[in-house]
Amino acid sequence: MITAAITAVGHYAPDKVLDNKYFESYLDTTDEWIVTRTGIRERRILEEGATSDLAVEAARRTLDQRGIGPEDIDLIIIATVTPDMFFPSTAALVQHKLGAKNAWGFDLSGACSGFLYALTTGMQFIESGRYRRVLVIGADKMSAITDYSDRNIAILFGDGGAAVLLEPSEEEGYGVLDAINFLDGSGMEALHMKGGGSWNPPTHDTVDNKMHYIYQDGRAVFKVAVVGMADVSLEIMRRNNLTSEDVAYLVPHQANMRIIQSTADRMGLPMERVMVNIDRYGNTTAATIPSCLAEYYGDGRLKRGDNLVLAAFGAGYTWGGTYVRWSI
Ligand code: COA
Repeated sequence: MITAAITAVGHYAPDKVLDNKYFESYLDTTDEWIVTRTGIRERRILEEGATSDLAVEAARRTLDQRGIGPEDIDLIIIATVTPDMFFPSTAALVQHKLGAKNAWGFDLSGACSGFLYALTTGMQFIESGRYRRVLVIGADKMSAITDYSDRNIAILFGDGGAAVLLEPSEEEGYGVLDAINFLDGSGMEALHMKGGGSWNPPTHDTVDNKMHYIYQDGRAVFKVAVVGMADVSLEIMRRNNLTSEDVAYLVPHQANMRIIQSTADRMGLPMERVMVNIDRYGNTTAATIPSCLAEYYGDGRLKRGDNLVLAAFGAGYTWGGTYVRWSI
């Protein structure tokens, strides 16, 4: 059987930094509250451009690392909840901007679990033998849908893009080895964006009522995210006979440091074996997990043969876990 291996990984964070002090300057909040309740110290903001620009930059870095050109890509899958437009897809815009003239592609909406949904999807095209190079990108310009006057939301999100290249594994036992994904639409009430779609097309009223921003009942989401992330991570370990000693890193979605810590605790992992960059980027939705992979691989902390458990939870609700044996 063919296995999909991650053969390159790239991350792009825009230059502009919003630190917690910025929010202290006009919201009823403090750096101390934000750090202790979320783990976030700063986040990046894309001042000009759109999600496709974040995705293109991440893709370029990924292709450069592998030493191949855009024309070598067969398929582009983009996980995002902040597409440049409803149509055409952000994948179409990225395909054009990159010059990936031999690729087709599509967007996938899985919110904070979007990257894992896209990874599961991308791996099928490699495993089937149909394609040899699939670019899986998680990119979100969350600043486009964040209400900066709401202290519950403004502090949480940032903009970013990150990508992985999937190719057939050259060696057995390496690559994306298992994936479990879940969907429970009853979670819609707690986390959604009401306006802009066919349910509430844009009108003056939808704008006046702030329906084009993220709505989140943080406490409700927190409770289910803690359980969902840990349960799926433990299920991935059980199915693949992994003990906590076998896991080199948990690679969690970066929404809240307390959710990350609690997942690690349930897996029996010390924090040194948990990938974390929420302090510098906040929640970049579909980009969090591949951005961690890119940073830890980039500075040598992630090595060939490392067993990784990827885990995410997000709007839908969506959640999932993936087992990767790192192959580069
Ligand atoms: N500064 C100061 N106080 C704040 C604040 C801020 N930036 N944001 C909220 N508060 C206040 C609330 O208004 C509330 O005050 P009240 O008790 O007077 O109503 C209090 O802090 C506690 O609010 P609560 O929502 O219970 O805080 P929390 O500990 O749950 O933390 C989140 C809030 C959003 C950080 C947390 O719930 C969370 O991370 N939720 C899950 C996010 C997630 O995983 N999303 C999934 C995918 S995106």
